[in-house]
Formats: sequence, structure tokens, C-alpha cells
Amino acid sequence: METQTITHQNLSEQSKIEMIDFYNEATEDYEFWSNDYNMHFGYFIPFKTNPFKRDTMLNQMNSQVLKRLNINKAKNRLIDLGCGMGGTMRYALKQYKNVIAYGVTLSNFQLQQGNELLKGKNGIILKENYNNTSFQSNSFDSAVAIESFCHSGHNKNSLKEVYRILKPGGRLVIADAFLKKDKSQLCNGAKYSYHKLCSHWSLEKLETHTYIKEQLQNIGFKTIKIDDISFRVAPSVLHVPFAITSFIIKKLLSFKTIKRESFLNLKGSFYALLTGLHMKSFGYYIISATKAK
Ligand SMILES: C[S@@+](CC[C@H](N)C(=O)[O-])C[C@H]1O[C@@H](n2cnc3c(N)ncnc32)[C@H](O)[C@@H]1O
Repeated sequence: METQTITHQNLSEQSKIEMIDFYNEATEDYEFWSNDYNMHFGYFIPFKTNPFKRDTMLNQMNSQVLKRLNINKAKNRLIDLGCGMGGTMRYALKQYKNVIAYGVTLSNFQLQQGNELLKGKNGIILKENYNNTSFQSNSFDSAVAIESFCHSGHNKNSLKEVYRILKPGGRLVIADAFLKKDKSQLCNGAKYSYHKLCSHWSLEKLETHTYIKEQLQNIGFKTIKIDDISFRVAPSVLHVPFAITSFIIKKLLSFKTIKRESFLNLKGSFYALLTGLHMKSFGYYIISATKAK
């Protein structure tokens, strides 16, 4: 039993190191994906977001997530758990003048470059593990996690930590891909693309949205709402082949070599598309919940 635990811990530690290397080296490539350095998929609304302009959909995802925080006129301390380059934080600071935004990441590149982009704004990125932060308990009004908890395998510890740092009545909003059924029930094609996606994007694993709901309830979260937004996200996922092609052409034309991490990222994006096509097995959800008062 003990050996098993140690092995699992070592594996987690190893995948964490790989994830950090991955983001230190591949984050700059996201400029091809998003001018605003949004490191996530988008949200399409017919006649509102242009399906050909990726950033409008990516920023609409920020908007959808922030909307569910129910931010009012009072001062609001917001934490972005796994903040990337702070794209969501910058969007929040632009929309809400009463927000003070904190972001956490494990990548030094994101820490430095993300803080550059936040200069003069009411936000800061810190190097912290979202599973075990140094923030005081009951200190945030709002928390978001966009496509970041998957790196820890949608672990209960991530949810427990956010519960600890949220004030009573504070809101949590998660946007991410989740399984629709247990891994053991996936067809061969879904299993293949899922494993490839996890290994290329350094994701520990994905959980089912029902598991997350159960865990949120057990921890003490209330008013849990799960929105299946797979069809809203699909148009931005369909951008993947075009983004990959234009990235490679630009690199070739500038005679630049493509780093190992960039290749992993490109292949990961391709497997994300492949995984997304298995719509009976995978979905994209926005999950919101409130810490009990
Ligand atoms: C796909 S990016 C998403 C970034 C950002 N949420 C966005 O949508 O632009 C995943 C982020 O999670 C961060 N991350 C992964 N595991 C983490 C951990 N244990 N603690 C803090 N950040 C973590 C990575 O450093 C990266 O910034």
C-alpha cells in the first residue's frame, strides 16, 4: 500500500515538473492562438461573437465565467487558480473597476511575462500551487479556474483549497473539459485520443462532471450548477487545425526551429480536437458553486 502511494506521488511530482517545463517553453506560442494570451477555448454566441475571429470567442469565455461570479458593486478580491498569462485577470480588471485580481501559476515564464502585461493594473501573479496556497483562509470573494484543474487530474485537493481560501458566500467558477462517463466505458477511439491528450498537454487525468459535483457537495459548496457548453466551445476547437498550420508555416518562413514543447503543444491541440469529436464521452462544462455562509 505504502509503495503504491509513493509511486503515485512520484508520478504526480514527475508530471508536475513536465507541466512546468511545458509551460515555460510553450507559453509564448499561445500568441498565435490569442492576441490577448488567452490560453483556453472560446464561447460562441450566434450573431454576437464572430466564429472566424478567435479572440472574440476566447474573451467571451472570460465573460461567461466572470458573469457567473455574480460580482456586485462592492470591492471584490478575485483569485485565478492556474492563471496562465493572466488573460482572464486582465479581462476582469477591464470589466470590473472594483476587482483586485490575484493569479497563481507554477511557471516562471508566466510569472514574469504575465506580470509585465499586468503592470499598472490592479492585479498580480504569484508563484503558488493551487492545491496548497499560502493565502489566508476566508480571504477571496471570487475564484476562477479555466482549463487548469485538469493538470492535477480534477483532484479533490484543488477544490478543498479553493473552499478554504474563499470567504463564506464566495463564488467558484470552473471551465474545463470533463468525461461524460467512466474511463472504463470509453470506446477505443476515445480512450486513444484521451490518453494522447493527457500525455501531450501534461494533464494528470480528467474526471467526470458528476464526480466534481459530488466532491463539491461533500466539501460544503452550495448552489452547484453545471452548464454543458460543448456546442458553444466547438467552433473555437475547430480553429485548431488552422492555428497549427499557420504556426508551422510562420516558423518555417522565419527559419526558426520548433521546440519539443511546441511540438507537444501542437500535437496536444490536435488530440483535443480528436477528443472533442467523441461527444458521447467528453464535454466542456462551466461549473459554478458558492461556499456556504
Ligand atoms: C491551459 S493553462 C490555462 C491558463 C488560464 N487559465 C487561461 O485560461 O488563460 C493552465 C494553467 O494552469 C497552471 N497550473 C497547472 N497546475 C498548476 C498548479 N498545481 N498550481 C498552479 N498553477 C497550475 C499552468 O501553469 C497554466 O498557467
